[in-house]
Amino acid sequence: MPVEELEDRVIITDPIDPTNTATILKYGATVISWKNQSQEKLWLSEGAHLDGSKPVRGGIPLVFPVFGKQSDETHPTFKLPQHGFVRNSTWEFLGQTSENPITVQFGLGKENVDPEAYKLWGEGKYDVTLILTVSLTKDKLVTSIDVENTGKDAFEFNWLFHTYFKIPDITDTLVNNLIDHQVVDKVLGEEYVEKAPAIGFHEEFDRVYKDVHEDKTLQIIELGKVLVNVDRENLPDAVVWNPWINKSAGMADFTPKDGWKNMLCVEPGHVSSMVDLKPGAKWTGSQILTLGGEIKIQANI
Ligand code: BG6
Repeated sequence: MPVEELEDRVIITDPIDPTNTATILKYGATVISWKNQSQEKLWLSEGAHLDGSKPVRGGIPLVFPVFGKQSDETHPTFKLPQHGFVRNSTWEFLGQTSENPITVQFGLGKENVDPEAYKLWGEGKYDVTLILTVSLTKDKLVTSIDVENTGKDAFEFNWLFHTYFKIPDITDTLVNNLIDHQVVDKVLGEEYVEKAPAIGFHEEFDRVYKDVHEDKTLQIIELGKVLVNVDRENLPDAVVWNPWINKSAGMADFTPKDGWKNMLCVEPGHVSSMVDLKPGAKWTGSQILTLGGEIKIQANI
């Protein structure tokens, strides 16, 4: 069956090759599994809560309308919890929109969000409709988000696909094509220009790369082999995160405790600035993940 709806999740299967599947939890519309030729490509903590009691630790959690915690206390997102409210709301399954590539949609509006949580965003005065589209082909997983302002007041928001990739060994892993980009280093508390042609990992890593041109593909490379290409539409920033030893130890839902060795987050988003959405306006952003291929070195454009 190309689309199977269970009580808490939806499983989609590539009609051409049934060893390619994706599983989307209705809670958070979180993609919790992407298998290609039966091999898992996303990292999901063994301790992740999949029962709707906590945002999922792993897969592709969705971040809206604020990335992290808002520091400006006059901003309508100030009272919201870290990463907003859509990763911990249960989305509606809207159904299948295409057979090949197999494509499904999920929707979230005010009525799907806990009213107490919604009130924390601008005293609950905004109206928004979010549609997540998930599409799967042979070697590709595409997630797109439409944000529509269905209310009377303009609002500002961040968007982020918080994608956790499963990798064989973080110390053998590189991410390329971020050279010469302005970066906010959250571990050092500094902002500078990235000078590494490919970034490697040997300690806690938490950086926001700003305004990375859309034509640049971010490649996750392991021992000279491209694991996955991360392409983006309308998502200018890229967060790269690995919690390493101490930070993982402090997260109760992060297991096994040495799971940081096998995960890397490369997260396309609009986070270093906010999108300003007028009443009636719509905004779309996409993450395109493609497996394999050649190493592509791109200079700063
Ligand atoms: C990343 C942030 O996107 O998400 C990190 O850059 C943060 O600073 C991480 O620790 C995980 O956040 P959370 O809320 O899922 O623990």
